[in-house]
Amino acid sequence: MSPLHVTRTLPEDATDAALRADVLRGLTATPKTLPPKWFYDARGSELFEKITELPEYYPTRAEREILATRAGEIAAAARARTLVELGSGSSEKTRYLIDAFPDLHTYVPVDVSESALTQAGKSLIEERPGLAVHALIADFTARLALPDTPGPRLLAFLGGTIGNLLPAERAGFLASVRGLLSPGDGLLLGTDLVKDERVLVRAYDDAAGVTAEFNKNVLAVVNRGLGADFDPDAFDHVASWDAENEWIEMRLRSLTQQTVKIPALGLAVDFAAGEELRTEVSAKFRREGVRTELSAAGLELTHWWTDGEGRFALSLSVAR
Ligand code: SAH
Ligand code: TRP
Repeated sequence: MSPLHVTRTLPEDATDAALRADVLRGLTATPKTLPPKWFYDARGSELFEKITELPEYYPTRAEREILATRAGEIAAAARARTLVELGSGSSEKTRYLIDAFPDLHTYVPVDVSESALTQAGKSLIEERPGLAVHALIADFTARLALPDTPGPRLLAFLGGTIGNLLPAERAGFLASVRGLLSPGDGLLLGTDLVKDERVLVRAYDDAAGVTAEFNKNVLAVVNRGLGADFDPDAFDHVASWDAENEWIEMRLRSLTQQTVKIPALGLAVDFAAGEELRTEVSAKFRREGVRTELSAAGLELTHWWTDGEGRFALSLSVAR
């Protein structure tokens, strides 16, 4: 069994500085916002895994169905020796890919969640003794330095996580992804598709309240990191469909007029009763839009697979 390599490109104190900067910027803006990467401490990663098992949350099952049925085709088209995965989380669905690539040498999972990354890495090296695993604790929206491993490379970005970036952020992100690839290397991208509004809203506002707990976990992260006194019970979870932007928007609505203290920033933040804080968008896509965004970044769409119900798509594009 090869050892698990873990590289941290997020210094622990930079995480703290980044949290301060993001919270200061987001909570003094109008409307108030917080960036989604702060959902994922150990508790957040655990809650996300629970979300993937909810009856209402179809994206994980739909994407798993595509991977289970198409992994052979994906491997034949991409022929990668290094598989890099951004926002890899538990790497659970990735196992279909890992097992389908005959010449796979190294797997590079990249995530901000150290707990998710080390758990996934440890089980992978036990289960797949021939595979080198080089885990990277890093922010995929920042400049990434990938380990020097054999090509060709396939970069996977699953789970519809690209939809959590705003359109302008997506363009910058895809351009930097293209910069990590050599001509002929591939990008395997998971995108959730536009569909019936009720199905979408239910996926982000489940009956058991797990998504509400996940959304509120960002307040616990700010409390712990910056000594703030957010009371998660003083906020309601809100998920709504924005038909113009074609995204689900997740917010936290203040139940009362309240002031939250954030000692590490010397800040007191006022919330009006009913005021909403935006925590995340989850954009939904159409084939032509995906093709256009990829093409603008120098990536040519070559394959498009959907699940049997046409809910979710996996696309393969190749770096020009
Ligand atoms: N790919 C998995 C997990 C999706 S959830 C799946 O499909 O089930 C999104 C994942 O991206 C989480 O593991 C989260 O920790 C990670 N993540 C979110 N923002 C990130 C960022 N800016 N940089 C690196 N990882 C990030
Ligand atoms: N990438 C996931 C998605 O957009 C993240 C997610 C799922 C999420 N459920 C959530 C983020 C609820 C915030 C709140 O589907």
